[in-house]
Amino acid sequence: MQRIHEKVGERYRNVFVTDAESINRLIQEISAEIGDASQEAVRCYVYEHLSLGKLTPFMMDDNLEEIMVVGQGLPVYIFDRIAGMKETDIFLEEDEVKRLIQRIARYNGREVDSRSPLLDARLPDGSRVNATLHEVSPRGSTLTIRKFRREPLTIVDLIRFGTITPRLAAYLWLAVEGLRTKPANILIIGGTASGKTSTLNALSAFVPENERIISIEDVLEISLVHKHWIPLETRPPDSEGNEITMDDLLKNALRMRPDRILVGEVRGEEALTLFTAMNTGHDGCMATLHANSAKETISRLTSHPMNVPRIMIPALDMIVAQKRQIEGGRLKRRVFEVLEISGTEGDNVLTNTLFKQNPKTGGLEEVLINGRYMQHLSSLTNLSLKEIDAELKRREALLEVMARKNLKMKEIHEVVQLYYRSPEMAVEMLERYITEAETKKKGWLDL
Ligand SMILES: Nc1ncnc2c1ncn2[C@@H]1O[C@H](COP(=O)(O)OP(=O)(O)OP(=O)(O)O)[C@@H](O)[C@H]1O
Ligand SMILES: [Mg+2]
Repeated sequence: MQRIHEKVGERYRNVFVTDAESINRLIQEISAEIGDASQEAVRCYVYEHLSLGKLTPFMMDDNLEEIMVVGQGLPVYIFDRIAGMKETDIFLEEDEVKRLIQRIARYNGREVDSRSPLLDARLPDGSRVNATLHEVSPRGSTLTIRKFRREPLTIVDLIRFGTITPRLAAYLWLAVEGLRTKPANILIIGGTASGKTSTLNALSAFVPENERIISIEDVLEISLVHKHWIPLETRPPDSEGNEITMDDLLKNALRMRPDRILVGEVRGEEALTLFTAMNTGHDGCMATLHANSAKETISRLTSHPMNVPRIMIPALDMIVAQKRQIEGGRLKRRVFEVLEISGTEGDNVLTNTLFKQNPKTGGLEEVLINGRYMQHLSSLTNLSLKEIDAELKRREALLEVMARKNLKMKEIHEVVQLYYRSPEMAVEMLERYITEAETKKKGWLDL
């Protein structure tokens, strides 16, 4: 390895790669350059010096969701998409972990040391990382890597995985777009790693392309096909204590004439700014929030540090609640409840249940569609509830075909955006994906 280092010299000093494609490309490149070294030696060199050392093979495995270094002398844990949490036989020494943390910090233009022993950052491939130094994690420095999915989950994936039903997807499509009149304000809630951000991202595909989207996150995770999209990222305090918070960014975003505001993880004073925006007519805000139920959501929103007055809550149209559960030995993410806020009565926030999981079958069932939001939409658009329901059915049929044919992110984007311009053309486009027999059998769309 020393020999390779001597040959390539300092040229790769600032290179840092974490995804399989870039790692393999770099191995080829260096091998070609130095000629005589074996590819295996170059691989070791790249893993050790230009990537994440012993963690690199995990980075190259698309089946993993998370990689976790938990402390000195303890095994690295991984979270597999299907099998869930697993212990590995890989161990990292404290100085190895520290070196990796420093490499990640440097890549992010940040410093981690005993004075600021916590780090939230991003890897070159977009993965989200959290690191803690042993000053605050006495069993040793830790790393938690939420691996970036090359292809973010789409509404089609969510339907295919059974996270949501085509019917709910159609309802949310209508709500996100709001028939160009009243896009809904939506909160996606759930526990840790329940899939909140992924659902937010998948639903954002329904935002019409002519709208200006601004997203705000601590670490960029949202990934959209839309061109007119400005992602903003917070900045943690520097050595002088200067920082850019979610609230700073949200206030700034409101001065940027946004049509859509997407907030990844509301948890502090930005909640009040967000609800003030919703209450002053900013529609179509979508955000995630860490809570296990609608009740808990409202109680978190209305207490410290979010401090949203109860009277402001009804500007929120709906809550989509998600969880992860084990079903037949396999991990599954499911939306288990969708509620709309129907108003307040004294100190109580009133809600209607729109969809609810059937505890026996695990399936999501429709409880009520024509609640406050649909009635509001109907009065604003002069469409009867029956007409809106026909629209809902049409979108549901489109989504079913999209799911059956497993359309990818760009194709979904194309169909959805075309649908806004011309439903007929979108249907024609989709018909290219299905056979004539299928078209007839379904009879399949009444436009
Ligand atoms: N519906 C789903 N089906 C299967 N896997 C999913 C689903 N949604 C998300 N995932 C996977 O689960 C992991 C966590 O997803 P995500 O980041 O969206 O969750 P989160 O609730 O936002 O997490 P956090 O609480 O850390 O912010 C990711 O690896 C993601 O790819
Ligand atoms: Mg998240």
